[in-house]
Amino acid sequence: MARATCSLKETARNFAVSKGYAQHVEHRQKTDILHAITVAKNSILRGSRMRLLSYDMPDDWNYFLFGDSHIGANLRHDRGFAQMVDMINSSYGGLSHKKNYAIDHGDIIEAITVDDKRYSVFDTRESCVTSQKAMATKELWPIRKKLLAVLDGNHPWKLHKFGPITHEVCDSLDVRFGTWSAKITFKHKGKLQFKHFGTHGNGSIGSIADDIERRKLNWRLALKRKLRDMAGDCFLMSMGHTHKIIISPPSEVLYLTNNGRKINQHHGVPTSTGEYIHPDYRWYVNTGAFLKVYGDTLVEDDDVPMEQSKLGSGYAERAMYPPLQLGFCVGLIRNSRLVDVIPEYV
Ligand SMILES: [Fe+2]
Repeated sequence: MARATCSLKETARNFAVSKGYAQHVEHRQKTDILHAITVAKNSILRGSRMRLLSYDMPDDWNYFLFGDSHIGANLRHDRGFAQMVDMINSSYGGLSHKKNYAIDHGDIIEAITVDDKRYSVFDTRESCVTSQKAMATKELWPIRKKLLAVLDGNHPWKLHKFGPITHEVCDSLDVRFGTWSAKITFKHKGKLQFKHFGTHGNGSIGSIADDIERRKLNWRLALKRKLRDMAGDCFLMSMGHTHKIIISPPSEVLYLTNNGRKINQHHGVPTSTGEYIHPDYRWYVNTGAFLKVYGDTLVEDDDVPMEQSKLGSGYAERAMYPPLQLGFCVGLIRNSRLVDVIPEYV
């Protein structure tokens, strides 16, 4: 604490000097110093800071990578989210639930209010921001002790005039707020397991190739292209936002080394803990979503007349977004190494 105060005063002094307040600082008048500290503090807070987190983990554990829950949207997949919560609190991959951990990649709420041009009675189940925050807190509550971080997202961010929505939900849950992107270091008994770069993400991932296999490959390449330069030392790189589930594993290669005069052959992924990990040898994951394109049932002519809010089309349908498999992904860490990432469809 003392160190932080000292550095803040130092920053304030530098800031004051740079702004021409030098003589006030020279006199060290208490009020000037306090004013300079306040100005400098506000100046510091205006800059964004990526979240750096570090956790000591078991040798074997499961890492649930999910996001884009969009609570408040009419077409949110409530049952699918509840299924994931249940899976996180149950044994998975041969390990007890105590070995399950998770990260939420953001867009925890839909954040569309009645004065938003995107608002419609069909799209929105709950338009009140306070209620959406309460709903998000309630839904994440059963897994709060497993959550290593919750990231921000463009939907809650759009309503930042109401305050830091995701941060406040994190505080209610006593979970770390991961900002937009977080770098997380995982260690086991002090030894590095791997580093993870997780971000809410931005933009879209698509392909107009005719062949489905070509499209899937293009998605994987596009995901890799988006993430690869964001960090050089992360074996796992993940994002949400696009609502797609995409997993691109590290390439296995044959590489040769020599031990004295003997050539040794190695086949596999060269490293997961190096200072720099080649982009081809990392895991890339797009974590899916819990928002449907269509409602579950269709309405026929002779059905009982329905109220307006139950008859209509969601914005994904209106934008002609293709249907996507909803769900999330689970990383399997065994013997301190991330060995697989499994897609889970709900
Ligand atoms: Fe998003």
